[in-house]
Amino acid sequence: MIRDLEIRSITKDDLENVIELDNASFPEPWSKSLWNVELSRNQRIYLGAFQKKELVGFIGGLLAHTDFHITTVATKESIRNLGVGSVILFEMLHQILGLSAEVDSITLEVRSSNKPAQALYRKFGFAPVGLRRSYYQDNDEDAIIMSLENLQSANLQDRLAKIRKSFPLINFVGVQ
Ligand SMILES: CC(C)(COP(=O)(O)OP(=O)(O)OC[C@H]1O[C@@H](n2cnc3c(N)ncnc32)[C@H](O)[C@@H]1OP(=O)(O)O)[C@@H](O)C(=O)NCCC(=O)NCCS
Repeated sequence: MIRDLEIRSITKDDLENVIELDNASFPEPWSKSLWNVELSRNQRIYLGAFQKKELVGFIGGLLAHTDFHITTVATKESIRNLGVGSVILFEMLHQILGLSAEVDSITLEVRSSNKPAQALYRKFGFAPVGLRRSYYQDNDEDAIIMSLENLQSANLQDRLAKIRKSFPLINFVGVQ
């Protein structure tokens, strides 16, 4: 389990570090101008995980009517599978559930070969609901669409409470 983690909103002051982690994590990272635009748009949530002030993970997404779409999530390669992804996804869901009672689903796309990411999403209750063929242009790979529904259910609350107990040492600060 990872220690001394702080979760807060990402701002433009974090841009260089966000871009570095994005470049290290994805074959098709976002451009600086896209990050700049995204970080200033409404209806977005961008969170960072910081360990001793170093950015070690981020997650982002946008609200589209009653669906919140998670567009990106990444953690630093050398500390993957230690819980950082779970912590930032947990806080993201917490924020989304606090946005509005009108939000009735959370969706995302994931590469069909990306088993670690699929395992992370399944842990939180996401289930596959569809396929986008050849969605990823770099290798023509399919995207699995995964969705989390019944956001107000006791089942989800129980699941989140259990996950929260597995990382008691996290400091959630300055999350807007
Ligand atoms: C996907 C990603 C964000 C997960 O972050 P992480 O910090 O490793 O996440 P966690 O340590 O919280 O692991 C969450 C779950 O994923 C699973 N998992 C993590 N790494 C795994 C691996 N290498 N193989 C299989 N399952 C794995 C585990 O089941 C884990 O649950 P557990 O708590 O029951 O063990 C990270 O692998 C990453 O940044 N990948 C590159 C970018 C990417 O693919 N992003 C997703 C785009 S859709």
